[in-house]
Amino acid sequence: AARGRCDLALICGAAMAVFVTRRIPAEGLRVLSQAGGCCVQQWDSEEPVPRAELLEGVKGKRGLLCLLSDRIDREVLEAAGPSLKVISTMSVGFDHLALDEIKKRGIRVGYTPDVLTDATAELSVALLLATCRRLPEAVEQVKNGGWTTWKPLWMCGYSLSDSTVGIIGLGRIGQAIARRLKPFGVKKFMYAGSHPKPENAAEFEAEFVPLTRLAEESDFVVVTCALTPATKGMCNKDFFSRMKKTSVFINTSRGAVVNQEDLYNALANGQIAAAGLDVTMPEPLPTDHPLLSLKNCVILPHIGSATYATRSTMAVLAANNLLAGLRGEPMPQELQL
Ligand code: NDP
Ligand code: DGY
Repeated sequence: AARGRCDLALICGAAMAVFVTRRIPAEGLRVLSQAGGCCVQQWDSEEPVPRAELLEGVKGKRGLLCLLSDRIDREVLEAAGPSLKVISTMSVGFDHLALDEIKKRGIRVGYTPDVLTDATAELSVALLLATCRRLPEAVEQVKNGGWTTWKPLWMCGYSLSDSTVGIIGLGRIGQAIARRLKPFGVKKFMYAGSHPKPENAAEFEAEFVPLTRLAEESDFVVVTCALTPATKGMCNKDFFSRMKKTSVFINTSRGAVVNQEDLYNALANGQIAAAGLDVTMPEPLPTDHPLLSLKNCVILPHIGSATYATRSTMAVLAANNLLAGLRGEPMPQELQL
């Protein structure tokens, strides 16, 4: 097998032939390899499958287990051909899948909601605190000798206590973040979305508001919506210009929800206090990107769901979704197209 490629079964009936686009936690692969009749071809590498290998790998397969970094578009679907019946993504986000093309072909889609909600909410809170209390900058000061003495005006930031938190997209993760932030003494929650969700908002007494009001009144803006045509570039110059100079912006959804040039200008000009991003456009963010030159911008490499337990559970769920789809059974988590 070529480097990166791994064929777990060499004699392969087309019935359950699947392509797995990356090395995934062993528990997930075990589910597939122990399933009777499932024939797995895998891109067995930590690095993404090259496009040409993806197009070759899906050829004639019945199932595809992919990641959020694989763009599954018309070209991939055409390369796979009519045999492809199931796509299972090891992610809750599905903006990398061309759903209209997938639906047209009658292909079923599995994804991994819920199992990563707690891990992603934890990371979002960690990022928020790291950003508003300037932890990376402070750690750097200890290392580089900037810490000369205790200074009353040095390394001050912003507190959650008595604050207003605005959540864009009060979905599973948005609610889990609000639940964790509430005990910090948040005074008011507000949220924006496509429609009010009183049953979800009641726990936090969160008020449904237009995006403009959320920008104007929040001390912390937390973005947890899905990336859709409606949310693409939603946090732009107009949005940042409405935010308070003392406010902190956090994004753990998808990088493309934010216009990064506008964010850079808002941070560099002191229009907003700070930003914490777990997601960027592109990923990885080039190391010479202007956002990385700013002290008031904390950037993480898309690690929201990165706990050992969560990634293992995601892999198992993705594998079980795939198998159920291949067998024509209900999936544990199927995306309704
Ligand atoms: P949900 O589907 O539960 O929540 C998504 C939310 O997006 C919904 O509440 C929806 O609100 C909202 N939304 C949709 N359209 C709009 C809009 N126009 N304006 C504002 N909000 C909108 O998904 P999850 O909470 O499980 O996950 C959310 C996203 O988080 C994922 O799609 C993924 O991109 C990202 N994610 C990132 C991770 C990371 O590692 N950083 C880890 C996991 C997920 P409404 O119902 O009102 O439309
Ligand atoms: C997702 O699942 O969509 C995240 O971005 C990674 O876990």
